[in-house]
Amino acid sequence: KVQGMMTRTISAGPTAVAEAASSLTAGNLVAIPTETVYGLAADATNGAAVAAIFEAKGRPHFNPLISHVDSLAMARRIVVFDEVATLLAERYWPGPLTLVLPARPEAAVHPLVSGGLSTLAVRAPRGIAAEIITALGRPVAAPSANPSGRVSPTTAAHVVHGLSGRIDLVVDGGPCSVGLESTIVAPEVGRIALLRAGAITAEEIAALTGLPVVRPDENEAIRAPGQMKSHYAPAGAVRLEARSVRPGDHLIKFGGAVLEGEEGAAAVIDLSPAGDLREAAANLFAALSAFDRSDIARIAVSPIPQSGLGEAINDRLRRAAAPRQDASTSAVGSARA
Ligand code: TXA
Ligand code: MG
Repeated sequence: KVQGMMTRTISAGPTAVAEAASSLTAGNLVAIPTETVYGLAADATNGAAVAAIFEAKGRPHFNPLISHVDSLAMARRIVVFDEVATLLAERYWPGPLTLVLPARPEAAVHPLVSGGLSTLAVRAPRGIAAEIITALGRPVAAPSANPSGRVSPTTAAHVVHGLSGRIDLVVDGGPCSVGLESTIVAPEVGRIALLRAGAITAEEIAALTGLPVVRPDENEAIRAPGQMKSHYAPAGAVRLEARSVRPGDHLIKFGGAVLEGEEGAAAVIDLSPAGDLREAAANLFAALSAFDRSDIARIAVSPIPQSGLGEAINDRLRRAAAPRQDASTSAVGSARA
């Protein structure tokens, strides 16, 4: 299990690249240096590995993660670039700029990375991070490598202090040169939304693109996907903490539990028959979207444990159960680390 595992530290170099790539391939978590801050990396296509990021950080909710790529070519495999996005990537990549772009429906990135959204945040980091991604051959999902609520780490020692025993490997590349998280922007029609200020300034981006760079105000919603109360609410009514099933219910359950009246369910999805919260987290968005159909009126969800990743799973289920709200009024925060 995550806690109590041996965390190794290895200095940046060819051996570190090979070890990091094989550890990521095996589904483990690896802290890697980038020019901004250290990232807590997992193979972005591996749902259980991505779930383990939230578990290791103790994040109480599934906010979306940045997909790190080694090139514009790799980014094009997962998101769609318009002219402005291409201009920005060509100018600033590799570097401290994250672009929020429409995800390709066929992208292999696991839905937990985007928090179930139709967009993906992508960034091409410099240096050994890029070499590790190339060696892996796939995008890497990585938030900052700190426990939830603590400051982002800019040295390997800082990572070890926060996450030792919870991750497999720390690649020590010395202090981060920028030391501040990447700027996050979303190109829109006729303007660019600045979702997080960072090393690259709004003025620079406006000068390069000739477009206004706007800070979306909190009521503008869209961006704070994870914070929206009714985010990802399926069309039907969602009943949480269900201990019995009503005839015709679509049931989402956990841990192989058999509920009273379950034989009357129209369909049943067990998020993890073995009772593994990491597996349940990895299956959560797929289950919600499978039951998000206009002809499904009622979804019952059996109790999910609150421990560990259960907190984030229950947070997302509560959002799914909240009454659907108008997206223009429901945001209560904006993108932040
Ligand atoms: O410099 C950085 O960006 C570092 C290094 C490791 O690359 N990463 C980082 O990740 O700061 P994190 O998870 O701490 O912050 C990512 C931010 C969050 O505020 C998240 O809400 C936002 O990116 N984000 C990710 N995907 C998004 C999306 N599809 N739409 C809007 N915001 C998104
Ligand atoms: Mg962060």
